[in-house]
Amino acid sequence: MGQDAFMESVSSTVGVFQCKIYLLLLGACSGLKVVVPSHTVHGIRGQALYLPVHYGFHTLASDIQIIWLFERPHTMPKYLLGSVNKSVVPDLEYQHKFTMMPPNASLLINPLQFTDEGNYIVKVNVHGNGTLSASQKIQVTVDDPVTKPVVQTQPSSGAVEYVGNMTLTCLVEEGTRLVYQWLKNGRPVHPRSTNSSSPQNNTLHIAPVTREDIGNYSCLVKNPVSEVESDTIMPTIYYGPYGLRVNSDKGLKVGEVFTVDIGEAVLFDCSADSYPPNTYSWIQRTDNTTYVIKHGPHLEVASEKVAQKTADYVCCAYNNVTGRQDETRFTVIITSVGLEKLPQKGKSLSPLASITGISLFLIISMCLLLLWKKYQPYKVIKQKLEGRPETDYRKARTFSGHEDALDDFGIYEFVAFPDASGVPRVGFPCG
Ligand SMILES: *[C@@H]1O[C@H](CO)[C@@H](O)[C@H](O)[C@H]1NC(C)=O
Ligand SMILES: *[C@@H]1O[C@H](CO)[C@@H](O)[C@H](O)[C@H]1NC(C)=O
Ligand SMILES: *[C@@H]1O[C@H](CO)[C@@H](O)[C@H](O)[C@H]1NC(C)=O
Ligand SMILES: *[C@@H]1O[C@H](CO)[C@@H](O)[C@H](O)[C@H]1NC(C)=O
Ligand SMILES: *[C@@H]1O[C@H](CO)[C@@H](O)[C@H](O)[C@H]1NC(C)=O
Ligand SMILES: *[C@@H]1O[C@H](CO)[C@@H](O)[C@H](O)[C@H]1NC(C)=O
Ligand SMILES: *[C@@H]1O[C@H](CO)[C@@H](O)[C@H](O)[C@H]1NC(C)=O
Ligand SMILES: *[C@@H]1O[C@H](CO)[C@@H](O)[C@H](O)[C@H]1NC(C)=O
Repeated sequence: MGQDAFMESVSSTVGVFQCKIYLLLLGACSGLKVVVPSHTVHGIRGQALYLPVHYGFHTLASDIQIIWLFERPHTMPKYLLGSVNKSVVPDLEYQHKFTMMPPNASLLINPLQFTDEGNYIVKVNVHGNGTLSASQKIQVTVDDPVTKPVVQTQPSSGAVEYVGNMTLTCLVEEGTRLVYQWLKNGRPVHPRSTNSSSPQNNTLHIAPVTREDIGNYSCLVKNPVSEVESDTIMPTIYYGPYGLRVNSDKGLKVGEVFTVDIGEAVLFDCSADSYPPNTYSWIQRTDNTTYVIKHGPHLEVASEKVAQKTADYVCCAYNNVTGRQDETRFTVIITSVGLEKLPQKGKSLSPLASITGISLFLIISMCLLLLWKKYQPYKVIKQKLEGRPETDYRKARTFSGHEDALDDFGIYEFVAFPDASGVPRVGFPCG
């Protein structure tokens, strides 16, 4: 052990210096140093393996002897070949397999077989004024390289979230001493409560599957001489619908209420995350009755065609594989904001009202003039508000449902409409 550790710690160049230190400390040093770059060498079956060895000494030498021995656990060391000066004496049993070119002590093994796995011992003897001796041991492993792995999923048709399980199996045709690792989106898969691996890690079991398990999976297989990753596969996981939303191209959305200007046609769009894609249906609610008005993700509502000022709709998303559905209710309010506040044309007003009106008009005009001077942009907006075309106003009146638009004057606040029945509907059938 002491000898080995010492040999490992010295490099070929500083070794002599260190040896001198050891010589002083221990009072004995061979003056001969044998160094191997690596004490473990991984070889590929069928190929040549080169075991490099370096040695050096500082003494006059008449003979240099190099001996290679091979040992396997629990067996006697076997003589492979040896040399004195430049002449090699092989063991006749292995003479075509091992090659050495003395004084170079490195050994070439060709071809390498599984039976060549074990420890190789090199011993160097230098004979001069006395005999110096040193040895090193190299562990050699022999492996077949890994062929590209293939990942199989079971079931191949996919699994439904929270219901189905999935097993990924990594298959490798050739290779020895395989170590498997699973990668998801390029990062190692860490064991979670929902997944487990076989002892060799060549299968990954996910039970039950969830939406979070969706990703690009691959299997990385390593051994001492190679490392190959499979193609990525994306297991099919059916899920959803999630995050059902209704949006419109126009109009103002506050919570579940869309405020739409009269005369506009509005396109509503229903979307939810789901695999496979949802089927959508649109349901209109009138009092206690509901009926399906359209299938598909879009619904166009022409505000002129809406008889009332408000209309309730439901968008229903259904995933025909998971068998799950979600629905969202929303209210459309047809509005004519600001128009109903204008005085009605052609309606007779009392003289007092006229005078008050004219006075107010003058005061407001003065104020506006002052304001205009100070903040010119304000006026532009004001003009826009007051200068709405009369046709717009007439339209608004037709739909207001009142004889006098002044009845509608006030501050409006729209809130989500409660369900008419007051009971939340469970399992409403999506048409
Ligand atoms: C090895 O070489 C040395 C000098 O080069 C020589 O003195 C010695 O006799 C040789 N030994 C053998 C066994 O040939
Ligand atoms: C030993 O021989 C190999 C080639 O067979 C060569 O690469 C290596 O450098 C040699 N070592 C020494 C110490 O000459
Ligand atoms: C041989 O070694 C002895 C003691 O180890 C020493 O006295 C002697 O000088 C050495 N001879 C030569 C030629 O190095
Ligand atoms: C999924 O795995 C769980 C636990 O391993 C098991 O109880 C369940 O029956 C499996 N489901 C299917 C559909 O195989
Ligand atoms: C299997 O994988 C786990 C975690 O990735 C790892 O800790 C374990 O050593 C692996 N087992 C084998 C036999 O490679
Ligand atoms: C999986 O790979 C595909 C194609 O390479 C890519 O479009 C997709 O975004 C990847 N998915 C993830 C979750 O990285
Ligand atoms: C709606 O149904 C409730 C009971 O389910 C009933 O009391 C109410 O009169 C119905 N309203 C209309 C307008 O049909
Ligand atoms: C689910 O709906 C799609 C159309 O969105 C259809 O192509 C598919 O066949 C349906 N699958 C099942 C199992 O009903």
